Amino acid sequence: MRLKDKVALITGAGSGIGRQTALLFSREGAAIVAVDVNEKAAQETVGMIKNAIAVKADVSKAADAENMVAQAEKKFGKLHIVFNNAGIMHGKDDDAVSTPEDVWDLTMDINAKGVFLGCKYGIPAVKRAGGGSIINTASFVARLGAATPQVAYTASKGAVLAMTRELAVIHARQNIRINALSPGPLKTELLMNFLNTEEKKQRRLVHVPMGRFGEAEEMAKAALFLASDDSSYMTGAEFLVDGGITAAYVTPE
Ligand SMILES: NC(=O)c1ccc[n+]([C@@H]2O[C@H](COP(=O)([O-])OP(=O)(O)OC[C@H]3O[C@@H](n4cnc5c(N)ncnc54)[C@H](O)[C@@H]3O)[C@@H](O)[C@H]2O)c1
Repeated sequence: MRLKDKVALITGAGSGIGRQTALLFSREGAAIVAVDVNEKAAQETVGMIKNAIAVKADVSKAADAENMVAQAEKKFGKLHIVFNNAGIMHGKDDDAVSTPEDVWDLTMDINAKGVFLGCKYGIPAVKRAGGGSIINTASFVARLGAATPQVAYTASKGAVLAMTRELAVIHARQNIRINALSPGPLKTELLMNFLNTEEKKQRRLVHVPMGRFGEAEEMAKAALFLASDDSSYMTGAEFLVDGGITAAYVTPE
């Protein structure tokens, strides 16, 4: 078991990557703090595993972020792993001309500020535990421009990458490693709701060398690598798990 006696807080644990990571980390021995703005979904995740609590939190709200960390320490005494994974992709997120200002603000608040707040309150707790691993979910879109734009989402994920590097450098000598996980396009609700026709799905798949969407379980395995001592010499890095999309210039027929 790679996370024996560890305590892991996972945001967005009610669905997709967060839920699959909660299940895998639990199988690897960790106690789980399953955080989601959708309390029912977080509780469903907790119902699937042992030694876990659900905490309702909107990661874009400082009081909620502070409380989720406090709940983790109250229940389990320590916090070693923080997976800042909650994120949204708004249906009205488009190019700069078309994207409404409130969609920009909401996306940045959850995807970028949410990671900042998770670090603001999570890092001191991990320090109190003697060290650990912080993982921030970015995305392959932070590296590539797309003609089917989501400018707020893309900018928010660029912010996650930049923030991750800087915080990793600051905390490198405190036994706290901080890395970003950049998934490729996945078969989760978030993307399937956005690519809501077969034509849109195929338009995206054309760019993926492997020719398929990734699975949330595949991201959970990558998160496990970053959370565990298997990645002990890794900090400030971006772990791209993307079916080859960022390596592609021309994809196979
Ligand atoms: N699905 C993809 O193709 C893909 C690709 C790259 C990156 N990502 C990123 O991976 C992360 C997880 O995505 P997913 O595909 O598992 O999505 P998902 O929609 O399946 O799950 C996201 C979860 O986050 C929760 N959430 C949303 N806003 C929240 C908030 N303010 N506070 C707390 N919880 C909140 C939702 O309730 C949901 O349970 C996101 O950061 C997303 O941007 C996804």
